[in-house]
Amino acid sequence: MKHQITLHYRTYENWRENSVIPKEIAERLEALLNTAHAPYSNYPVSSVVLMESGAMIVGTNQENAAFPSGLCAERVAVLAAKAAHPNEAIETVYIMTGESEREPAAPCGSCRQVLHETELRQTKPFELILLNKTHNALAFTGVKGLLPFSFTLPR
Ligand code: THU
Repeated sequence: MKHQITLHYRTYENWRENSVIPKEIAERLEALLNTAHAPYSNYPVSSVVLMESGAMIVGTNQENAAFPSGLCAERVAVLAAKAAHPNEAIETVYIMTGESEREPAAPCGSCRQVLHETELRQTKPFELILLNKTHNALAFTGVKGLLPFSFTLPR
């Protein structure tokens, strides 16, 4: 028997000209690109996590000479968000990359695993919004679809 998986997502055109991405958050993401620690890749990434209370937690990629020891921006932000607000749900995860040559980059596999398991800690899915400075934004309601057949421990 054959099966098929469908992924729904939205694009936000001209997101700078309308308020679909709150101005404060867009400015924060852009400013954070200047403080990312990406001396090896020269590929800065920023992330803002918006909690249901309105609290904002930020992250940037933090690279390390021992390559696997560094962390992606969204993992820094999401894990810090849950450390500071363990019982609060995440409303939205924003990720912005410093490049503009193509559509916004999507999270790596390890980050998808972390995003997915973090989402399982709350009842409501969160919004994931991918951005760069020039292209349409990509928006996903829930991250489950980005990691089909994800690993979870048996309950
Ligand atoms: N990176 C992120 O921080 N988030 C992503 O979604 C994709 C990749 C970082 C990892 C590394 O510091 C740099 O981008 C280039 O791979």
